[in-house]
Amino acid sequence: SSEPSPEGKRILLAAPRGYCAGVDRAVDAVEKALELYGAPVYVRKEIVHNKFVVETLTERGAIFVAETDEVPEGARVVFSAHGVSPAVHAQAAARHLATIDATCPLVTKVHKEAVRFASSDYDILLIGHDGHEEVEGTQGEAPEHIQVVNGPHEVGQVQVRDPEKVIWLSQTTLSVDETMETVALLRERFPHLQDPPSDDICYATQNRQVAVKRLAPNADVVIVVGSANSSNSVRLVEVALEAGAGAAYRVDKADEIDPAWLTGATTVGLTSGASVPEILVRTVVDRLKELGFTGVEEVRTATEDIMFSLPKNLRADLKSAG
Ligand code: F3S
Repeated sequence: SSEPSPEGKRILLAAPRGYCAGVDRAVDAVEKALELYGAPVYVRKEIVHNKFVVETLTERGAIFVAETDEVPEGARVVFSAHGVSPAVHAQAAARHLATIDATCPLVTKVHKEAVRFASSDYDILLIGHDGHEEVEGTQGEAPEHIQVVNGPHEVGQVQVRDPEKVIWLSQTTLSVDETMETVALLRERFPHLQDPPSDDICYATQNRQVAVKRLAPNADVVIVVGSANSSNSVRLVEVALEAGAGAAYRVDKADEIDPAWLTGATTVGLTSGASVPEILVRTVVDRLKELGFTGVEEVRTATEDIMFSLPKNLRADLKSAG
């Protein structure tokens, strides 16, 4: 529908962007549960932090609740991709709930690290955002051993029992650069600070940050599609600005784009968080085309082929249902 732009206004489309393997699996788990068991299927917390996904699943018969005590005794509940603490598993068992655990395997990996180092009596410094569901879940594995460090500004307050026995772990969706800054400051205070056995910031978070960093220096404006409570989406805005984007904005969907943001811009960078369906990016591209940004170039920094299989008990039920 658009005329070719005489000024050559263009979109740089980041790749990878959007759905990660953990989100794909969690959303699929709710969809499959609805097909197999029928509505309603309860979901504790937003299955993934995206408004559109939650609305779509609600229309199909999912009921989102804040806590398991809102789920009727004996009903079925899905735990979200962000993970839950052992206390939540216990509450669900006490109410005889049938659970489907859609915790991302890469979050489960961090839980296991927490359990392992807590059992060796380490002080664990969990870099992450207080109040985020993932952090609550991980901290709940060993509340006596874990303290949350929100960022570089909190390093000065950290107290440990034995500075020889300290390890840092992190939320999976942080800014890589800011986390390294926090770690460097922690290490100045605790030279024996140990690193996690493997990266806690997940491949998807890292790949999306690398891609947006690559295009940001050439972008007058970067638009990140993602919801306000999506940690990795909000980080993409920060990373874009740090990498030299002229400006950066987060939108849930196309109609939130203010044309005034684009005044004088010739190049718009575009990406999306790990919880964002591609359809939302498509509609943003269409909107930008209407606004004159007709050229679309992909900026790819990695390819991803990782996939996670569905939660075990759901897989078994699907199999026996044929
Ligand atoms: Fe898992 Fe990373 Fe996605 S932890 S849910 S793969 S953002």
